[in-house]
Amino acid sequence: MPSTATIQLGDQKFDFAIIEGTENEKAIDISKLRDLTGYVTLDTGYKNTGATKSAITFLDGEIGVLKYRGYPIEQLAEKSTFLEVAFLLIYGNLPTQQQLNGFQNQISKHTLVDEDMKKFFDGFPSKSHPMGQLSSLVCSLSSFYPESLNPRPTPQEFDQTIIKLLAKLSTIVSWIYKKSLGHPYIYPQNKFDYVTNFLNMTFGQRTEDVVIDPIIVDAMNVLLILHADHEQNCSTSTVRIVGSSDCNLYASISAGISALWGPLHGGANQAVIEMLEQIKNDGGDVDKWVNKAKDPSDSFRLMGFGHRVYKNFDPRAKIIKKACDDILEKLGINDPVLDIAKKLEEVALSDPYFVTRKLYPNVDFYSGIIYRALGFPTEMFTVLFALGRLPGWIAQWKEMRENKEPIGRPRQIYVGEVDRDFVEIGKR
Ligand code: SDX
Repeated sequence: MPSTATIQLGDQKFDFAIIEGTENEKAIDISKLRDLTGYVTLDTGYKNTGATKSAITFLDGEIGVLKYRGYPIEQLAEKSTFLEVAFLLIYGNLPTQQQLNGFQNQISKHTLVDEDMKKFFDGFPSKSHPMGQLSSLVCSLSSFYPESLNPRPTPQEFDQTIIKLLAKLSTIVSWIYKKSLGHPYIYPQNKFDYVTNFLNMTFGQRTEDVVIDPIIVDAMNVLLILHADHEQNCSTSTVRIVGSSDCNLYASISAGISALWGPLHGGANQAVIEMLEQIKNDGGDVDKWVNKAKDPSDSFRLMGFGHRVYKNFDPRAKIIKKACDDILEKLGINDPVLDIAKKLEEVALSDPYFVTRKLYPNVDFYSGIIYRALGFPTEMFTVLFALGRLPGWIAQWKEMRENKEPIGRPRQIYVGEVDRDFVEIGKR
């Protein structure tokens, strides 16, 4: 492998170092490009641009590989729990039993939210979208915990901010759901593990604890693990760039939640179910909708299909598809949109339009069917994605801060008007 890349501009040549990561990814380090040449690069959507060096998650989109801190996603989904994976992502290694117990206990101690937060919940219209509520409520945590505003906390102070966010997000998410039903909030209980506690706050009743089916606990653990991190995606890049201004963690995560809301990103899991329902209600003519997705004059896209990085199967989609079959069978649920999803996948994967563009089902294609089987309404799906992605966002933000990365500030090429003099309004 060459150690440098050369750019020739006219009769001048400029050499730039080539760096290689531990998984053999290669990059041309252009950090001195403008100083040396006066030029910048242009890469709208950053499709070819590495924003950072990270040790958290590796994915290979060509062969469909995903690893958190070196551990294959397939092993973590099968053998681990969400809280253990959260610890792994944030602190870099799988916890010992003692470390995991301490982490769980710390989180249990902080699952309550300030009672004044109920005033925020009360202020939202009853049908306002859960993602808008979540982004606002998470940002409001910086008001209740002003110590989080310190851009130079001690490691212990920072751990407390992390623990509070991980702990309280599950309560906030479940209360958003309860508010949507007009039901009373259920308070967290320390006797439950993280996922069981979340499910009890979500589906429990004030009069009694609901018996949470272990099948549902296992399914939620797998879904949250699969969503926990995904390197420099849209929302994670948002979290990192907002945090690079020395903005506090809560506000940075709130910005990431807003980015995830978009239907091209995390909002796709809601859009997939809405699409499948639309196809079902339209008579289930899958070929008609695949043709619409292929038609460049039609804005319809096959939601849950395609990916910026995966040009092969999204390994998470494979795991979720199998989990979908297992859970619906165990719960004795026959969901007609699952049959439509499978037919859609079968038709699309044999169609040259999708094959040539390497468009495969992504993590969002089947996840909504499981969330629905577990009892969640469609509008809660992206909030559940955020609950899963939180440890990844935290880990990436923490890495950016610990590496003392500079404030993110991309350049541009200006293509607007040049040199105009102001004209009074009466003379325009
Ligand atoms: C997530 O980045 C991450 O890691 C994200 C994520 C994570 O864990 O954080 O994995 C989560 O966001 C998954 C993606 C969820 N979004 C969707 O399912 C929405 C539907 N998918 C598309 O909108 C699209 O595939 C994107 C947004 C996901 C990726 O878009 P790109 O990389 O910008 O690709 P593109 O739009 O340039 O598409 C290339 C071609 C185009 O056709 P041509 O111009 O070459 O003729 O493929 C076509 C597109 O029109 N295309 C689709 C399509 N996706 C791409 N055509 C029909 N249906 C689709 N879904």
